[in-house]
Formats: sequence, structure tokens, C-alpha cells
Amino acid sequence: MTASPERLQDAFDPELDRPVLPRHVGFIMDGNGRWAKARGLPRTEGHRHGLEALRRTIRHAVKIGIEYVTIFSFSSENWRRPESEVNFLMGLLRRFLRRDLSELHEANIKIKVVGERADLDPAIRVLLEDAEALTRLNTGMTLVVAFNYGARDEMVRAIRRLADDVAAGHLDPSAITEQTVTGALDTDGIPDPDLLIRTSGEMRLSNFLLWQVAYSELHFSPVLWPDFDENHFDEALDEYCGRDRRYGGLTAKVL
Ligand code: IPE
Ligand code: IPE
Ligand code: MG
Repeated sequence: MTASPERLQDAFDPELDRPVLPRHVGFIMDGNGRWAKARGLPRTEGHRHGLEALRRTIRHAVKIGIEYVTIFSFSSENWRRPESEVNFLMGLLRRFLRRDLSELHEANIKIKVVGERADLDPAIRVLLEDAEALTRLNTGMTLVVAFNYGARDEMVRAIRRLADDVAAGHLDPSAITEQTVTGALDTDGIPDPDLLIRTSGEMRLSNFLLWQVAYSELHFSPVLWPDFDENHFDEALDEYCGRDRRYGGLTAKVL
């Protein structure tokens, strides 16, 4: 199988009992700093070129019919970086939302933001909320932007919410199921990623979607994010197509 644009999302593999392409692809867009360093450029240049890679990736995902793309754009731990780099990344998000929003809206993309918003600069919070509001009724691809996001932080906030419901007498602890927890997370309503791609050769999750990737297929690419292009994306999709997802059970492939 090859991952060509012709092979659309509704192609279904009856043997594997699932769509051929992943419905949801997550990206840990890593390696901007190393890309810049290798060229003797400031790290910020790496982030700037990383934005180009993001635009390419979104266009390609739309073209081949991926339903959900989640991008890790700023982690709850990235505040540990020098203030100047943090400020640059905040500015880059602002520019992305201002300059690209109309194109994303025209492409019928729905934007959803996950992560802690309470301690964000109000100007950024408003931009994120406006992007969600403008694209709320769009019916094309959903772009999930993980900003000021950390999976442990997300889980702590979800546990607090559920604990509040228990304390208020609205929720019986024995009624808490996996679905209850899933529904209390920022990603409520979004299916789990089928495929998670991390660039730059690092083989770790760095606190990204820990609950949601329980059964995701992982693809680690050595390519630095600013160099990531359509061919690298297709390579990951091809590899995914060859994987046998068993969820702890057995499939026709192994029987
Ligand atoms: C990913 O690139 C972008 C963000 C984390 C915001 P990095 O900035 O982590 O680049 P490296 O890992 O230092 O090369
Ligand atoms: C993960 O990359 C966060 C984003 C891509 C936004 P990092 O570069 O922050 O992760 P570590 O520090 O290498 O684990
Ligand atoms: Mg990094």
C-alpha cells in the first residue's frame, strides 16, 4: 500500500476492520533549535522555518483527507526556556493566528485548542478563543492546537473537575469509567490519535497526550521539524498502513 492522495480517508480495509488511513495524526514538532544551530542561525530562525513546515503539513493532511491533526506547539514545560525564546514563540503563535486564520477557515478547518488557558496572556487567550469561535461550525479537518499543554497538567485539571463533581454530590465515584475520564480531559470529543509522529530523532513523548496515545502507533523520524515535508509525512503514513493494531487482542494477520 502506498499513501497517495488518491487513497482517500473513506477507503476501508475489511480485513483489518478499520480505515486505511489514520483518522487522527498527532505531531510532536521537534528539532527547530538544532536545525538553526546546524546553520549557525539563532534558534528563532528554526522556529520561523518550523512554521513553514507546519503549513505544509496542514495542507497535505487536508489534501489526503485526515480528519484530525493535533500539533504540539508549546508545552507547559517550555516556559523553562529563556524569556526571549518564549516571547518569540508567543509572537509566532499570534502571527500564525492572525495571518493564517482566514486560510484555515476557507479550507473549512475547525480549530480546537487544548492546554491550560488560565495563565496565558489575555491577548493570546482571546486570539485562541476567536479562532475557535470563527471556525466552530466548519466541517472539514479539525486542527487541535496543543498550546501551554502538558498531559499531566491536563489530567490534574480533569481529576480536580471530577473531584468537585463528587464533592457536590453530582457524581458517584463508583460510576467513574474510562469514558468519564476521557470526557473530563481537554480533548473531550476528539478521537484518540491513531498515529503519533515525532521529528528530530528524540524517542520520548515529552508529556504529550499521555492518556490518549495508549494505543497510538508511534513514528519517530530523524528529520528536524523545519525539514519535514510531504514525502516524510507519506513515509509515516505508509509505515502506519503496514502496522497491525491489535489492542491486546488478535487480528486476522496473526491468526
Ligand atoms: C520544537 O523545537 C519547538 C518547540 C518546542 C516549541 P525545539 O525548539 O525543541 O528544537 P530543539 O529540540 O532544541 O532542536
Ligand atoms: C516537546 O518538545 C514540546 C513541543 C514540541 C512543543 P521539547 O523539545 O520541549 O521536548 P524535550 O524537552 O526535548 O523533551
Ligand atoms: Mg526540542
